[in-house]
Amino acid sequence: MIFKWFDERLEIEKFKAKFLRKTFPSHPTFLLGELALFSFITLVMTGVFLGFLYEPSTKMVSLFGAMVPAAYASVVRIDLLPMGLIVRRIHHWSAMLMIAAILAHLMRIYFSSAYRKPREINWLAGLGLWGLTMFAAFTGYLLPYSQFSVTATSIAYFISKSVPWVGDWMSRLLFAGEFPSEATVPRFFFMHVMLIPAALIGLIGLHLVILVKQKHTEPPANKNRKEAQGGKRLIGLPIWPEQGVISMSFYLFLLFVIVLVSTYIPLNPVETYGPPSPGTPVMRPDWYFLPIYGFLKLIPGDLSFSILGGKITPETIGGVIFPGFLVLVFASIPFLDRAKGPQPYMANPLRRPFMTSFGIAGGVFLCMDVVAGYIDVLHIAPQTMIIYTILATLAAGGISFALLRLYNGKRGNDVT
Ligand code: HEM
Repeated sequence: MIFKWFDERLEIEKFKAKFLRKTFPSHPTFLLGELALFSFITLVMTGVFLGFLYEPSTKMVSLFGAMVPAAYASVVRIDLLPMGLIVRRIHHWSAMLMIAAILAHLMRIYFSSAYRKPREINWLAGLGLWGLTMFAAFTGYLLPYSQFSVTATSIAYFISKSVPWVGDWMSRLLFAGEFPSEATVPRFFFMHVMLIPAALIGLIGLHLVILVKQKHTEPPANKNRKEAQGGKRLIGLPIWPEQGVISMSFYLFLLFVIVLVSTYIPLNPVETYGPPSPGTPVMRPDWYFLPIYGFLKLIPGDLSFSILGGKITPETIGGVIFPGFLVLVFASIPFLDRAKGPQPYMANPLRRPFMTSFGIAGGVFLCMDVVAGYIDVLHIAPQTMIIYTILATLAAGGISFALLRLYNGKRGNDVT
């Protein structure tokens, strides 16, 4: 009865027949994009809860007799509420999981060459999603206003100030003036809860609309079956109910794992870090910023020069030029690929020696940059670490390329 009422107005049956009978390929790696999506949904839900209790201000208030910033005090109070601590941990663990899922999803797309024609635009939209997610994590860092928050954010402050020509203007826009200042927390709060989630929702929507329009790549094993069926429809499960039920079960299982992990493994214990103090110790950022942090450590501290009136400092090289270069490499990948014409099937990475070994070398290079973030505790000199990084990258790329060529004989030509 109620359904009929809505159907007469919204044509739900027509929508179901048109959209929900579309097929989703049954390949487990296709759940990685969903993992990123579900982590984002969890982040929004827990974020709404935290938003009601968090106070975006650095004015000093009393907490158990000590004067601390209001933002810090509000997070400590959230932790003391029934369910408060676990919701905050679920929020933080979901952020970790979303970034890890995005990286795994990106690797799946890269190694199976799903970025090829006609999916270049969706690859670029995906890169935008990755950047926005990192930005969301970065702005979230500051909000508890603990010692950790302030050290981690000050690294980014100096990086943004070091952008040639526009650094001063850009840092004032992002940090609402100098950092730390009382205007920064409200500015970051606005970006973290409004601007970035809105941009993420819009871009995820676009990503998925393009996906539906272009259809998914399919496992190569589908080729024969598809051709036998006339070649139009994807081979897989209908979105509703089959795939929908699988996805919902997957989400429930994911929630179970996140709640379990959040119960036992503390993350960002603000009470242990304490509020910011003049002797704030040096702290390493979270794992997903470590490649940039490690790269920064390899640059000699006195390397500074000017170009056309713009000052280039170690922060510019490690924090602006290096990530900018990475973005450029990632963005150009679909346009450097030699395959011509639309590519409906996933490629076999073992048959693409160059692209696969290039991806492996890139991954090893970024992992070595992570290690570089620890050279102080490992007692390795920066120059030695640079040599290790170059050797490991060349060895990983060279060995994997040689092995794949050997495996393929004359067949692997990076076009299949
Ligand atoms: C917030 C982050 C992201 C979300 C929520 C998301 C979501 C999804 C979903 C649900 C799918 C379909 C399932 C799948 O193929 O795994 C998909 C496909 C796709 N995504 Fe993403 N994605 C994100 C980030 C990225 C990134 C970082 C890239 C690459 C730079 C990317 C590129 C693609 C491409 C090219 C497809 C089509 C794949 C195919 O046809 O096989 N996405 N995405």
